Amino acid sequence: MKRGIFISFEGIDGSGKTTQIEQLKDYLKSLNIDYIVVREPGGTNEGERIRQILLDRESDLTPEAELFLLLASRSILTKRVIIPSLEEGKIVIADRYADSSVAYQGYGRGLDIEFVNSGNSVATCGLKPDITFYIDIPVEESIRRRKEKKKDRMEIDPEFLKRVRKGYLKMANNSKRIVVVDGTMNPKEVWQIIKINIEELLRRRNG
Ligand code: TYD
Repeated sequence: MKRGIFISFEGIDGSGKTTQIEQLKDYLKSLNIDYIVVREPGGTNEGERIRQILLDRESDLTPEAELFLLLASRSILTKRVIIPSLEEGKIVIADRYADSSVAYQGYGRGLDIEFVNSGNSVATCGLKPDITFYIDIPVEESIRRRKEKKKDRMEIDPEFLKRVRKGYLKMANNSKRIVVVDGTMNPKEVWQIIKINIEELLRRRNG
């Protein structure tokens, strides 16, 4: 059986990941390709409970505790859901994965990047997405898009988000796996770019 394909979506809050994941789901459905979508933090019963702690405004977490909770959730999701699904030949679509921790906890909160990377490599069993779409929007646009919408514990401080965005751009610069897509284009244009990359991946898998 063919191994599945692992696709992740990254971006600062309000980048339009969810809309693009919906497009990708419709596209895979139209081709009769088996897929699953997972989100982080979360994606398993245990992970969803961890998510509640992470997003709860009442939680008084340290940056380190935040990272450990994310890694715990990621470890369960990877071993129990992602790896088995890939072995079954499915396409796995992740709404955020390990890169989020490098961007948010590393570049955003200031934890040592190598420390975050080591934690990630344990939690992911060394698994990396085949492709990552980083949907890039300026921080001002992020804040404009998500005002009113969301009132969880995670920050909307512009300076924090600027560091996160810079981190993503730096990672993308150093990795062929990460495709940067301009999220200020209209959603249809964004999807066209993503679709071209997915078609190429599917061709390679079938070829
Ligand atoms: P969510 O409501 O899923 O936001 P989004 O739609 O933007 O993905 O909340 C996830 C929040 O958790 C988001 O603010 C980013 C943050 N996060 C981290 O800080 N580190 C991580 O490793 C992950 C996976 C998420």
